Amino acid sequence: MKYFIITGTSRGLGEELARRLLSPEHHLLCISRNRNVALMAESEQIDYFEFDLNDIDQVDRLMRDVCNKIDESKAEAIYLINNAAVVTPLSNIEHGSFEELTTNVHVNLLAPILLTSLFIRFSEHLRIPKRVLNVSSMSSKNHLPGMSVYSAAKAGLDVFSQCVGKEQGEGAFAVKVISVWPGMFDTSLQEEARSANKDVFAASELFNRVKDQGMLVSPTTIAEKLVDLLLSDQFAQGIVVEEL
Ligand SMILES: NC(=O)c1ccc[n+]([C@@H]2O[C@H](COP(=O)([O-])OP(=O)(O)OC[C@H]3O[C@@H](n4cnc5c(N)ncnc54)[C@H](OP(=O)(O)O)[C@@H]3O)[C@@H](O)[C@H]2O)c1
Repeated sequence: MKYFIITGTSRGLGEELARRLLSPEHHLLCISRNRNVALMAESEQIDYFEFDLNDIDQVDRLMRDVCNKIDESKAEAIYLINNAAVVTPLSNIEHGSFEELTTNVHVNLLAPILLTSLFIRFSEHLRIPKRVLNVSSMSSKNHLPGMSVYSAAKAGLDVFSQCVGKEQGEGAFAVKVISVWPGMFDTSLQEEARSANKDVFAASELFNRVKDQGMLVSPTTIAEKLVDLLLSDQFAQGIVVEEL
């Protein structure tokens, strides 16, 4: 049995990743605030954890509950996909509320760091393939006014993946960690960027242009590519994949 811990599975890319991974040989451990009832109906091999990743103090407990579902005697490989994210605040930094600013860093950066740390600790003694895929963004290098916290969190995620890759090294049962820029695809996150007030977020016009010019791909296509990468030999330790 291969185990997949995936965050942000209630919609968008995370939902498509989970759907793509459904298989009799796979057990999915899904995390988001809202339970994805439709996804749950598609397989009995899903455990769902309704959890707010902004609740940083409880991530330890969450990961214990998640790992309790993993039968070590059956586990052939385990994977963590840090996919959940929030794009707000979409405004210059002085206009973001403290709550929006901290939630952004918690969900986009701190939760993936804590989950990765706990994943490595939990799986240290397991002599099976272990991989962490951090879903990042070209926003880590392509900087737009009004997205400073999102960009900073994604840049942090890229650096984090590279550093942990170095820590883990190339041992046979090292945890392999990568960061991936998936490209732009049509989800509620894009919708939020398009519908943001252009007086405080001028780049909303750019997001609208991208949509109007048909440049957004479907999350299903991205999920297919990400799953292929996750399970392939191209999953090289500590890299940032800028183009899928
Ligand atoms: N869409 C794009 O064009 C694009 C481009 C580059 C990178 N990305 C990245 O791709 C990933 C997926 O994005 P998406 O477009 O699929 O986003 P999305 O449609 O907005 O979905 C975000 C997911 O994250 C979960 N989430 C948000 N806040 C959470 C919290 N506090 N606790 C737990 N889960 C939370 C949401 O579930 P709940 O609301 O149920 O909690 C939802 O399942 C993200 O890492 C994003 O940065 C997207």
